[in-house]
Amino acid sequence: MTTPLIKITNVNKTYKGVSGDVVALKDVTLEIEENEFVAIVGPSGCGKTTLLNILAGLETYDSGTVTFADEPIIGPGIDRGVIFQQYALFPWLTVRKNMEFGLKYRGHSKEKQKQITDHYMDIVGLTEFANLYPKELSGGMKQRVAIARGYATSPKVLLMDEPFGALDAQTRAQLQEDLLKTWETERKTIFFITHDVEEAVLLSQRVVIMSARPGRVKDMVKVDLPYPRNQQTKILPRFNEIKNNIWANVYQEYLSIKK
Ligand SMILES: Nc1ncnc2c1ncn2[C@@H]1O[C@H](COP(=O)(O)OP(=O)(O)OP(=O)(O)O)[C@@H](O)[C@H]1O
Ligand SMILES: [Mg+2]
Repeated sequence: MTTPLIKITNVNKTYKGVSGDVVALKDVTLEIEENEFVAIVGPSGCGKTTLLNILAGLETYDSGTVTFADEPIIGPGIDRGVIFQQYALFPWLTVRKNMEFGLKYRGHSKEKQKQITDHYMDIVGLTEFANLYPKELSGGMKQRVAIARGYATSPKVLLMDEPFGALDAQTRAQLQEDLLKTWETERKTIFFITHDVEEAVLLSQRVVIMSARPGRVKDMVKVDLPYPRNQQTKILPRFNEIKNNIWANVYQEYLSIKK
């Protein structure tokens, strides 16, 4: 047994506010292996983003432990890359320069920056757009740059918070396939938050279901579908079986909020 890359043990987090306290996470325990693709689903407000921010080192927690490669997480680090729903690109830099920025920061030579950037632009089909600025790109293309940049800077884990949430269905399908292709060829530990159970099953090896607030880990489901996967995977009976089981589970949580 290898030790998990990420180990979250009995983590509690309460936001203190003027109109009362909000318990966002209650006794959350979760382990993630190196190169594992894990999806997190759960109703709105159940603490998914809070958990991601804790892993990113952008948020504190009240008790419990969170370790990354056996070291406590005490702040952001280049070993953990974050991809948000909004495309966090530098508007004054071209696609290529956006990609190269993080590589430069990591001390790569100009030649190496170009080589790595070309490689990832090719994988996600951005090569012909290398010299465009973010304002000249569609939402899907911007998010594609964010994914390619996330991989290019080669963190040990990619933390993704509903990265495709703002995209139309067709673009979303394309980006899911881009991400699958990238992960299938180069692996990486991915922590992927989504509202969409179908997306979680299509992409991940394991789906973590969180309960309604206060967020706990309610259940975990292994997705035993082979890779490579693509949109066709959705027609497999096993895909639908897993999806429906998870959906029923998550739906109970939605109902519990409505009560
Ligand atoms: N900075 C903050 N200050 C106070 N309360 C917060 C803060 N951030 C989040 N919360 C509260 O903590 C709870 C969990 O929020 P969080 O953003 O982690 O949920 P989420 O699962 O990501 O929701 P969504 O699916 O809508 O993105 C919510 O009730 C939210 O209002
Ligand atoms: Mg969120």
